[in-house]
Amino acid sequence: MYKIIEKKVLNKDIDIMKIEAPLVARNAEPGHFVILRVDKEGERIPLTIADIEGNNVVIIYQKMGYSTQLLGKKEAGDTIEDFVGPLGQKAHIRDKKHVIGVAGGVGSAPMLPQLKAYQEKGVKISLILGARNKDYLILKEEYEAICDNIYLATDDGSEGTKGLVTDVLEPLLKEDDTIDHVIAIGPVIMMKFVTLLAKKYSRSIDVSLNPIMIDGTGMCGNCRVSIGGKTYFGCIDGPDFPGEDVDFDELMSRQSYYKDEEHVCYLRLKQ
Ligand code: NAD
Ligand code: FES
Repeated sequence: MYKIIEKKVLNKDIDIMKIEAPLVARNAEPGHFVILRVDKEGERIPLTIADIEGNNVVIIYQKMGYSTQLLGKKEAGDTIEDFVGPLGQKAHIRDKKHVIGVAGGVGSAPMLPQLKAYQEKGVKISLILGARNKDYLILKEEYEAICDNIYLATDDGSEGTKGLVTDVLEPLLKEDDTIDHVIAIGPVIMMKFVTLLAKKYSRSIDVSLNPIMIDGTGMCGNCRVSIGGKTYFGCIDGPDFPGEDVDFDELMSRQSYYKDEEHVCYLRLKQ
């Protein structure tokens, strides 16, 4: 069993939790993820690690389905059944001079350890944080501590530029030729369009893919992604990959395979 040390509600859909897991904490690197189960019958929830604090692992999750809703009902002092990790490959921390992170919604959680690793190498860091409205712009203070420039974008204009993260990114890539690398983490559609811009302006790009995962150890094949015509497993080859040749359309279609079943479970919890 793993103890919840702290829980904070960031907004009505997103919580941050610190879980005591010394072995995971000791071995985790930026980009690694964990798979947790809330109880014995629980579904496996894959989550990229947002931070490490001593023996504790920080996770941030959006209560969008049955299992994340159940997790959201837990409080500090409660326990969860399993917390397995670190899983996956660590993020590629490349030899670059000025990296721009593009983080959409809850994708700002897995972005944080990567940008911290670049900042520790002395790389200049810019960041575009995008969300549907100002309540969903999370981790602003944490990013202010490590970034040289932060640009905000909201769909409704309640903070920062009114529009998509790509509306902010394009002029920056056009005008600032010191930017030599892009990292995009967020909805697949966002990562697709950020990758198209990176290619248009000849910048390298890394993305963090979130295919459906079950075992997280390369056994079930659910997390298959196509990159440059070859098949990779998100769980053991990723989740981070160079974005240029990712088949984002296939990933979006595979992500919706279990939508109907997920909706039925979600409604059951609401009853
Ligand atoms: P969201 O749907 O609120 O979108 C966040 C931002 O994405 C928006 O502010 C917008 O600027 C941008 N965006 C949306 N559509 C776009 C488009 N067509 N072109 C350019 N930009 C666009 O985000 P959310 O509800 O928080 O969802 C986050 C998603 O990120 C989830 O689907 C989750 O699975 C995924 N995620 C991925 C990882 C990962 O490791 N890859 C980690 C966490 C979350
Ligand atoms: Fe099963 Fe990757 S989650 S093979």
